[in-house]
Amino acid sequence: MDRYAVFGHPIKHSKSPLIHACFAKQTGQKLSYEAILAPLDGFPEAIHRFRQEGGLGANVTLPFKQQAAKLCDTLSERARLAGAVNTLYWQGEKLCGDNTDGEGLVRDLRKHHIALNGRRVLLLGAGGAVRGVIPELMAAEVGELVIANRTAAKAKELASLFSHLGAIRGGGFDEIEGSFDLIINGTSASLSAALPPLLPEMLAAGGSCYDMAYGDKPTIFQQWASETGATINLAGLGMLVEQAAVSFEIWRGVSPATDEVYDLLMAQLG
Ligand code: ATR
Repeated sequence: MDRYAVFGHPIKHSKSPLIHACFAKQTGQKLSYEAILAPLDGFPEAIHRFRQEGGLGANVTLPFKQQAAKLCDTLSERARLAGAVNTLYWQGEKLCGDNTDGEGLVRDLRKHHIALNGRRVLLLGAGGAVRGVIPELMAAEVGELVIANRTAAKAKELASLFSHLGAIRGGGFDEIEGSFDLIINGTSASLSAALPPLLPEMLAAGGSCYDMAYGDKPTIFQQWASETGATINLAGLGMLVEQAAVSFEIWRGVSPATDEVYDLLMAQLG
């Protein structure tokens, strides 16, 4: 059977095996998809072994996304820009890398009719998660992207790295000016129930919020969004399912429907 896997450390929590099993069933694709715990100092070896055992493609999650980019023989433009890979596949002997996180986010935003074109977007955080989605947000022709981070220098650095893609500015939370049509939380603060210092006026009338994190309850950022009156207020479970769908399309050439899997995962969280 065609073999796929997700590599990470830790990996037990990964929902990817369930998501891809659902996609495979739904589209009638015969494949297996497993979760593999790669040693922190043995990611390249784990990938190499998987290929030798007949693996056709893989997802990569924390903390190996940047290492995966370095390991690849060829990278998609968006993976090169992000400096991180979440989707691997082989063409002959060549290891190819792509990054579907940004497309996953943009697909989920579009699915919920959140407009990007010409809009002011505030992106909170400047770590790996944020870096991965910037190329795709810029490709969606946002009017202006402001990256704000606790450590201002990191946001400034990211903004200058991606400045050739369009209007991007970066700085500290205290440097945020004006209001935004969309605020995306890409910090890991939600995971420790911390909230970046946001002011209600930062969300424009009719504006929406998206937390790239998710949990069994609304995140603290979602709670802020709800109190502030966000029109649409979403968490990252949708992005997780959508980025998996893009990986599945790359490997199998067919597009799975995502609603059914999303509902299943929501029910599990609930
Ligand atoms: P990831 O891969 O999830 O992006 P990361 O690369 O460690 O993880 O980045 C974590 C991000 O969350 C960073 O932007 C971090 O801010 P700093 O660069 O200042 O460290 C941000 N972050 C983490 N905890 C936070 C908190 N309590 N408040 C605000 N930002 C926080």
